[in-house]
Amino acid sequence: MPQVTVTEQLLIHQKESPMATGRVTRLLNELILAAKIISREVNKAGLANVLGFTGETNVQGEKVKKLDEFANSVLIYRMERSGLLCAISSEENADLIQVPDNLRHGDYILIFDPLDGSSNIDVNVSIGTIFSIFRRTKNNGPVSLEEVLHKGSEQVAAGYFLYGTSTMMVYTTGNGVHGFTLDPSVGEFLLSHPDMKIPETGKVYSINEGNHDYWDQPTRDIVSWFKSQDNHRKKPYTGRYIGSMVSDFHRNLIYGGVFMYPKDSKDSKLNSGKLRLMCEANPMAFVIEQAGGLATDGEKRILDIEPHELHQRVPLFIGSKNDVLKIMEIYGNN
Ligand code: AHG
Ligand code: MN
Ligand code: MN
Repeated sequence: MPQVTVTEQLLIHQKESPMATGRVTRLLNELILAAKIISREVNKAGLANVLGFTGETNVQGEKVKKLDEFANSVLIYRMERSGLLCAISSEENADLIQVPDNLRHGDYILIFDPLDGSSNIDVNVSIGTIFSIFRRTKNNGPVSLEEVLHKGSEQVAAGYFLYGTSTMMVYTTGNGVHGFTLDPSVGEFLLSHPDMKIPETGKVYSINEGNHDYWDQPTRDIVSWFKSQDNHRKKPYTGRYIGSMVSDFHRNLIYGGVFMYPKDSKDSKLNSGKLRLMCEANPMAFVIEQAGGLATDGEKRILDIEPHELHQRVPLFIGSKNDVLKIMEIYGNN
C-alpha cells in the first residue's frame, strides 16, 4: 500500500471538501507538530519520577511542568505562532486567549482539550488531545466570546490525537473520517485507517458505572438494557471503560459501541454532565457523525446545541447509530 501522509490526504480532500481550505491544511499541520512534541513527552511519562515531571522543582531550580500543563503550553505557544488563528480556547484556561497583537493573525478559532484522560497519565494508560476548529465570522479586532460560542455544526475541522500503543491522529473536515498512525522512524503520520465507519450496532457500552446511584431512572434503564439479553442484540453488551474519553471513543469507533457520560447528582454543580461541550463533545460529535454514528445529550443532537458559555458541560451519548437511537427512545419515553 502506498504510504499516504496527512498532508497528501489533506491536499486530496481540499478539492472535495469546501471546508478544507489550504489554511485548514496548514493549521492541521501546525497541530501535528505540537502533537508530535506532546507524544514524545507522553512516551517518557513512565519515567516521570526519574525525569521530574511532577510539578516539583528540578535540579536547575526550575519548576517542572506536569504533563497536562506541558501539553497545554506547547499547544498555545505553537498555535499562537501559526499565523492562522485569532483566538484559542483551552480546557485548562478559564478565559478565551486572544492571539497577541505582535503575532500574525488569521481568521480561525481553535478550541482544545490538551490532555484528555489526565487521571491516566501516571499509570501508563492511553490519553489524548482533542481539537475543534471554527472560522471567524467577523473580520478583525479582538474576538468576542459570542464569536466563539458557535454550534458544533459550524466546525470546519475536528479530531483527536491518541497517545496509545501507537500515536494516532483521527480527523474530519466534513468529508469522512481519516485515521493516521505516527511512524516514529520517519516522524510522519501515515494513513492507516482510511474513511473510518462505525458499525451501525455496537458490541460495547462504556460508562462509569460507579455513578449508578447518582443517575436518574431513565439512565439506569438504559444501562440495564445494554446488559440484558432482551436488547436488540439478544445478548448483553460488553462493558469497557478506560476513563479517557479519547481512548474509549477510539475503540468504540472501530469495534462499534457507545460511550456515555450522563448527568448525575454526584456534584450539584455538574448537574448537566461532566464533559465539556466545546472542547470535548462537539469535536467528537463531528467525528462520529462523519463516521456514520450519532451523538446526543439524550434529547438533542450535540452539534445543534447553542453554547452559552465557554466551559459549558453536557451529558454525552456517542457512538453506533442504533445504540444511540435506543438511548434517545428510552429518554424520550420518560
Ligand atoms: P480530562 O482528563 O480532560 O479532565 O477529561 C476526563 C474526562 C474523560 O476523558 C473521561 O472519559 C472522563 O472524564 C472520566 O471521568 P470519570 O472519572 O468521572 O469516569
Ligand atoms: Mn477531557
Ligand atoms: Mn483535559
